[in-house]
Amino acid sequence: QVASAAAGRADLAWTLSQTLHIPNVVVVEGDSDAEPWVKDQLGLQAGQYLHSILEDNDIVAVTGGTTVAAVARNMPVCNDRQGIRVVPARGGVGETVAYQANTIAAQLADKVGGTSIMLHVPDRLSPGAVEQLLTDPYVQERLPTIRSSTVVVHGIGDAMAMARRRQSSQEEMAEITMHNAQAEAFGYYFDADGNVAYSMKTIGLRLSDISHVRVVLAIAGGANKANAIAAAAKAYRIDTLVTDEGAANRLVQQY
Ligand code: BG6
Repeated sequence: QVASAAAGRADLAWTLSQTLHIPNVVVVEGDSDAEPWVKDQLGLQAGQYLHSILEDNDIVAVTGGTTVAAVARNMPVCNDRQGIRVVPARGGVGETVAYQANTIAAQLADKVGGTSIMLHVPDRLSPGAVEQLLTDPYVQERLPTIRSSTVVVHGIGDAMAMARRRQSSQEEMAEITMHNAQAEAFGYYFDADGNVAYSMKTIGLRLSDISHVRVVLAIAGGANKANAIAAAAKAYRIDTLVTDEGAANRLVQQY
């Protein structure tokens, strides 16, 4: 029975890989919306995968969120790679400390025997403030490193759920609703066709930087994230998706 359940997940992963055009898909047991332990399974699988692709001197950019936090928590301790730097993908500090990219970067760096770089920049900035911060020596020192990341480890959120969690302004909510945003990833909101519906004014990795990243790893589970995962898959290149049966079954039914 265990073997046939695993074979079922492998079939689901293959189907998703074809429909979402993601070369490598891993499906773990359960639905993280219903059972919290599933998120740790997502984290464990993603952590093992990350370990397998890490190379010396990699710059690993991580986003915040509960799922990427589970990757850092469950990542096996390893020190077989030299010179790894872990950086926050974007500057946001809007989340609970445990789920901020800076915190997760520090934890992950510990696990892989590397170092981390912090970027303390608020999630929401006025265009003037962004301009000014870009001239700041502290930011100027860090930004090129972040933007030249070689590996990206990120979560995907449901657009409305993320907008609410970030206590977005009425204007932002209006943009997100008007453009029918489905997904959110590293501060960008995407519609069902993968177009950028809205992007947060913050500093860090940009969508255009993805093209020179060696491995883009997405981790997202739960049936409620199915639309978000499908939208993100259309929006930018994802090389590996680690998801769960909850999201995978919903995706296979809908797409
Ligand atoms: C945010 C990331 O912090 O977490 C996003 O910047 C992601 O990329 C979101 O969409 C997902 O959060 P969670 O808690 O659902 O994993």
